[in-house]
Amino acid sequence: MNPLNHVAIIMDGNGRWGLKHRNSRNEGHKAGLHTVEKIIKETIRQKIKYLTLYAFSTENWKRPKIEINYLFKLLENFLSNKLEDLHKKNIKLNIIGVKNFSKKLNKLLYLSEKKTSKNEILQINLALNYGSKFEIVNALKKMNQNNDTINEKNFKKYLQTKDIPDPEILIRTGNTKRLSNFLLWQLAYAEIFFEKKLWPDFNEKDYIKIIKKFKSIKRNFGKI
Ligand code: IPE
Ligand code: IPE
Ligand code: MG
Repeated sequence: MNPLNHVAIIMDGNGRWGLKHRNSRNEGHKAGLHTVEKIIKETIRQKIKYLTLYAFSTENWKRPKIEINYLFKLLENFLSNKLEDLHKKNIKLNIIGVKNFSKKLNKLLYLSEKKTSKNEILQINLALNYGSKFEIVNALKKMNQNNDTINEKNFKKYLQTKDIPDPEILIRTGNTKRLSNFLLWQLAYAEIFFEKKLWPDFNEKDYIKIIKKFKSIKRNFGKI
């Protein structure tokens, strides 16, 4: 059976779900939060140590301001209300991406990371204002500044995921088959599962099915 330490998820389809069911994209983002909670619980139940969630890409700034503001308000409320609970559950929160949000949200993010930094049941990497190309170019710039020898092992030290094993599983909901600038380096050998369901409709059963399928896959890593 394949070991499983890290699941990465592109939580896509909120907007379409919201339009279809509530005539509002934002309502879809709100509904998507319930799925986030369900999946966190199941990840712990499955004893998976790392969960990386793509919540906002560097490209998502191209959306209407009203949607962007709503998304960050949602995140702010979520963290304000749930931080204590996450902490009690021994969950570590780690942000990947560049924290250049409002002063209030930046502070809340730093605080959440600090408060939960010693927790160990599950590490959630929340990808916020994250873009893989930016991460890679930035890593190369830093390597160059430090005059560090360019090789794979050294390169990894400059990524925001430096202390984390690469994801064995990538899930993308929302019936779209692309990576959208997510963890391009780290996903080099991931098993990829594209889900038809929109993120708010995705549930524990779908997640467990994917994990089960993953465990039975023959992972070759170039061998036969
Ligand atoms: C993903 O859902 C969430 C974010 C990008 C913040 P979308 O908002 O992209 O939903 P669709 O793809 O438009 O339905
Ligand atoms: C990817 O979804 C980003 C997140 C889920 C946060 P998008 O909906 O932004 O991706 P594209 O633009 O359709 O590729
Ligand atoms: Mg989308």
